[in-house]
This record gives sequence, structure tokens and C-alpha cells, in this order.
Amino acid sequence: SLMIKVITYGTFDTFHYGHFFLLERAKALGTHLSVCISTDEFNIQEKGKSAKLNFVDRVRIIKSLNIVDDVYAEKSWDQKIQDILKYNINVFAIGDDWEGKFDYLKSYCDVVYIPRTKHVSSTLIRGY
Ligand code: CTP
Repeated sequence: SLMIKVITYGTFDTFHYGHFFLLERAKALGTHLSVCISTDEFNIQEKGKSAKLNFVDRVRIIKSLNIVDDVYAEKSWDQKIQDILKYNINVFAIGDDWEGKFDYLKSYCDVVYIPRTKHVSSTLIRGY
């Protein structure tokens, strides 16, 4: 099809301009952008930290963006291959703090690491 589908993953707590630039650059890699947002359970159990905003609020913010076409829940580290196959994804994109970590997805789609925006993060905004 003429659609080039991009997917990205993250917590997107206290939505900030670093998130916006990342999503804008991810969308520009294709024509359709899916964002997989980590659930509160996944954050606590797997990332060892809880977001300031709950999952429903984080989803509402990301869904409100015109550049975002679909929003899904991230519930496990190993759902990526299933997601890529299920949604016919062409490009997996993520910030370069994850450089090299998702190279194993290269047998399923293109993998692109996008430079992070300096001096802003959810951790800085939350203050914990
Ligand atoms: N991101 C970015 N630039 C930043 C912060 C985040 O490009 N300054 C990207 C990340 O690389 C990731 C996505 O935004 O692809 C979601 O990142 P997330 O971990 O939710 O945001 P952080 O601000 O990095 O959160 P934390 O401080 O909790 O790690």
C-alpha cells in the first residue's frame, strides 16, 4: 500500500517538547504514526518508576496530537514483534537513548534511532 507505518514506544509522562520533536520526526519517517504508551503497571513493574500522570491522562494527551494516528498500550517488553506484524509496521523509531537496543527488530522492519532533545525530560519536570 501507499501507507508507510511508523511505530514508537514510551511513557510520555508530563508531555514536553522533547516528546513532541521525537513524535514529529518519527511521523516524518512515514505517513502513519502509531504510539504505544506504557501502562501504569508496566512502568511500576518493569521500569521501576511511576509516572506523575496516569495512563488514561497520558493517552488523552498523545491522542490529541494531529500527527498521531493510532495509540496503543505497551504492557510488556516483548510485544514489539507481535505489534509490528499485527499493524503492518514498516519503521520502528525511538530516541537514541535506546541506540542499538532494538536492532533485533531489523528482521521485521526498519529501525531508526532519533536524536534526543537535550536538557528536557519527564524526570526533570517531575522532580523525582
Ligand atoms: N525523548 C526525546 N528527548 C527527550 C526526552 C525523551 O527525544 N528530551 C524521547 C525518548 O527518547 C523516547 C520518547 O521521547 O523515544 C519517550 O520518552 P520517555 O522515556 O517517555 O521520556 P523521558 O523524558 O526520557 O522520561 P524519563 O525522564 O522518565 O526517562
